[in-house]
Amino acid sequence: MGDDIIYGYNRDYTPPLDDRPYEIIRRVMANLEQPGIEAPGLFLHEIAAYYDSFTGRHIGSTREYIRIMVERLIKDNVYADELLIWDMNVALLSSQLHDVGKAAVNGAILNKPGKLTREEFEIIKTHVRKGVEAIERIGLSGRFHVFLKQARLFAGAHHEKWDGSGYPDGLEGRLIPLEGRIMAIADVYDALTTARPYKSAFTAEESAEIIIGGAGVHFDPALINAFYKSMDDFATVSMAYSGVV
Ligand SMILES: [Fe+2]
Repeated sequence: MGDDIIYGYNRDYTPPLDDRPYEIIRRVMANLEQPGIEAPGLFLHEIAAYYDSFTGRHIGSTREYIRIMVERLIKDNVYADELLIWDMNVALLSSQLHDVGKAAVNGAILNKPGKLTREEFEIIKTHVRKGVEAIERIGLSGRFHVFLKQARLFAGAHHEKWDGSGYPDGLEGRLIPLEGRIMAIADVYDALTTARPYKSAFTAEESAEIIIGGAGVHFDPALINAFYKSMDDFATVSMAYSGVV
């Protein structure tokens, strides 16, 4: 009811669609300001669940896939120089904002059962730019600049493809930020293993086969190597989240 003194927002306020990603990030930031939060990933689920275009499962499972991939890559000394600079708590939290722009996309299109028209798909694609814009609107300086900069990379690059055929910028190969290249695998694996309004879930084995088949086309081959070694861990996470909506 009314203004929330702790979190600094009005619980009764429903922002216009276009402002929703910004409002979500603002609330995340307000939570980050609170002392004693040891598992920041958990509260984002609650915030995101407020908006019908998100699911806790997708946010939580992709975060765990990112963790698995990064640990494997460091162990195998693949992109380790870059990954060892990451603060994993920050990286995992910022990864959860990769689809924040979807809060600005009409839920009827996002959750449409059946095939999307070309026009509807173009609207869904705007979630990347809308997410990036919301993060930039918050501002990339200040105490949380590392978090916001990394959130922008996860949000902005997770639909790019290794062969340059992705969106929004058609970046190719290692020009795609590593955050985006790793998230692409986590994102697609979760989509494959989850039932959606337009499809049933693939098994872990079928999903892994599809991901591996995308090496050098959709995905960074060096990352697929790490995925190949981590398939059992991916399947375990997928199982753990199977009851989560
Ligand atoms: Fe996305």
